[in-house]
Amino acid sequence: MKQKTIKSVLMCKPLHFAELNYIINPWMKPGTIKEQIALDQWEQLVNSYKKLGITVNVIEQPLGVPDMVFATDQGIVHGKKVLLSRFWHEERRDETQFYKDWFEQNGYQIEYLPAGAYFEGNGDAYFFKNKLLVGIGFRADEFTCEAVSKALDIEVIPLQITNASFYHLDVGFLPLNDETAFYYPKAFNKRSREVLKQLIPNLVELSEEETEGFSANSVVTGNTVIHQAGNPTFTEKLKKLGYNSIDVDLSEFKKSGGGAHCLTNILKYYE
Ligand code: ARG
Repeated sequence: MKQKTIKSVLMCKPLHFAELNYIINPWMKPGTIKEQIALDQWEQLVNSYKKLGITVNVIEQPLGVPDMVFATDQGIVHGKKVLLSRFWHEERRDETQFYKDWFEQNGYQIEYLPAGAYFEGNGDAYFFKNKLLVGIGFRADEFTCEAVSKALDIEVIPLQITNASFYHLDVGFLPLNDETAFYYPKAFNKRSREVLKQLIPNLVELSEEETEGFSANSVVTGNTVIHQAGNPTFTEKLKKLGYNSIDVDLSEFKKSGGGAHCLTNILKYYE
């Protein structure tokens, strides 16, 4: 069983997250975010990573791009290349330039998707062994899959998401290692559920409560899972699978439909 350990991540300091003023997924509650609490929760997540020896690179948030805090959506990093996202919603498109600048300044080679290919980075994509699983239906489509497959020279498996609450793959799906993944069956259509069952030897169901608690939106490093606080049954499931869990209260970010995974773009694993 292969367990990868994270070496470094990219995160965005939520300096203006509370100005959120639009709704593009059903979890969003504009006007209710408390800026200082969000900042404190984010710092807690940063500190959890630092305690685990993970290097945290920080990009600061300018005005006018509240969802920019969700670093994972900005692109997929592979080695020193990054496949830059193209956001489905107009509301998020201005975020890209800031990440593009950061990646360029930090020596990454930027790869672009062709016009008309929408893609929201790791929000909708997980590597599983030698394949890339991509969530389609809300922020990406079949054309995205073709384009990403070409850009990364990898086999892409589309997974059809059925409900707007699971607008991104990382709300209803979480791989732990090369054998085990969590999923919320109702987030996917029948065919995609079958695809997952064929592909993943140990596919563990998440309950509705666990899914609504954003259990899937977690970060896995070695045998530790950093996840949204207040998910005791998920913690139990992890323990049974031999994983430690670190709880972080990220309730302010849930008010935009995000959690630990959304806030964290993994740059590098240990070899
Ligand atoms: N409000 C953001 C959106 O709807 C939340 C994105 C969270 N990111 C994620 N990877 N699930 O785009």
